Amino acid sequence: MTTTVNDTSTLHLSNSPNISEFSPEQNVKLYNFHPPVDDFRAEVIQGLSKSQKTISPKFLYDKKGAELFDAICKLDEYYITRTEMAILQTYAREIAQLIGDGVLVEFGSGSSQKVRIILDAKPRLRTYIALDISHQHLYESCTNLVEDYPQLEAIAICADYTQPLQLPDIPSLHNKYKVGFFPGSSIGNLEPKASLKFLKNIANLLQCNGSFIVGVDLKKSKEILEPAYDDSEGVSAAFALNLLTRINRELGADFDQKNFAYQAVYNPIGRIEMSLVSLREQIVHIDDTKFKFEKGEKLCTEHSYKYTITEFQALAAQAGFKPQCVWTDPEELFSLHYLKVI
Ligand code: AVJ
Repeated sequence: MTTTVNDTSTLHLSNSPNISEFSPEQNVKLYNFHPPVDDFRAEVIQGLSKSQKTISPKFLYDKKGAELFDAICKLDEYYITRTEMAILQTYAREIAQLIGDGVLVEFGSGSSQKVRIILDAKPRLRTYIALDISHQHLYESCTNLVEDYPQLEAIAICADYTQPLQLPDIPSLHNKYKVGFFPGSSIGNLEPKASLKFLKNIANLLQCNGSFIVGVDLKKSKEILEPAYDDSEGVSAAFALNLLTRINRELGADFDQKNFAYQAVYNPIGRIEMSLVSLREQIVHIDDTKFKFEKGEKLCTEHSYKYTITEFQALAAQAGFKPQCVWTDPEELFSLHYLKVI
C-alpha cells in the first residue's frame, strides 16, 4: 500500500504538506512536505537581487535535474560516486554491524542506490526512512527499493532537509535508535556556517544513541577536481543550465540558455565554485521584476566544499558528534565518517 500522510502535528516543518496522488501499489508511505512554489519564487528573486547573484543548489533537482545528476554520477571524471560505493562495498559488513537494530534515515536519498549496498549486507533491516526534495524521484526510488527488498518498510519524506525537521511519530520508530546516512558529500553544498547548523540539527534529530554515517569528499588537486565538475560531455553544464529552464517553466521567467556559459573553478580556500556566466549584457524578467546581468557576471549555482579528515572531524565535534571511525579508498579521494551523537 502507498499511504500518503498529511499530519502537521508530528512533522514540525514550516509548510503544511500536500496530499499526493500516487496510486496505492507499494509498501511505501509518503509524507509530502515539499515547499510550495511561492518559496521557490521568493528565494530565486532574493538570490538574483544580491550583488553576487546566487541560487541555492537545492533547486537544481527537479525531475530533469535529478536525472542529469544521476548521469553526472556515472561520468568517468566524477570519481565521487564510484569511490564512495567502493568504500561502502569494502566496509559493508562492518557498517551493517554498527547499524545493529537501528532505523536507517537517509538524507537526500536521490535514487537510493547506495543504501542497497547496506541492505545487501544487512538483509534484516526493517525500516528505511528516505528524505529528499525531489518528489517524483523520491517516490519512484522507494517504490523500486521495496520491490527489490520486500521485507523493507520505506518511509518517504519529501522535504527540504536543510531546514530543521523532526521525524513523524510512527510505531516502527518507537524505542529504536536512529542511524543517519548522508552519502555523496552533499554536505559540501553547505557553507561552513550552514553545515555546522545542519550537523547540529541532525544530531538533535538522531538523538542520544543515534549515529551518523556521512560521506565527505577530500581536498585534492584541482587537476582532478575541476574536470569532475566540468566534464567533457557537458553533462555538468546541462545540469546547471537546467536550473534556468526550471525557473522559466515554473516562474514564467525568460532566461535564454544561449546567453550563459557554465564554469567550475577550484578556489584554494577549499571549494569548487560553479556558476553560469552571462555572455553579454542582458536583462531577465520574472514577473515585473527585471534582473540586469553585466557581460561576464556570474550567477552562482553551487559551492562544493572539500575537507580534510581532521577538518571534518573538528566540525562534527563542534556540532555534538564524537567521531568514531573513518573509512577511505586507497587513493584517499573520499572519506566516509562514522560519528556518534554525544
Ligand atoms: C550533490 C553536492 C555532492 O558537489 O559533488 C556535482 C553536486 N554538482 N556536479 C557535488 C554536483 C555538479 C554534488 N553534490
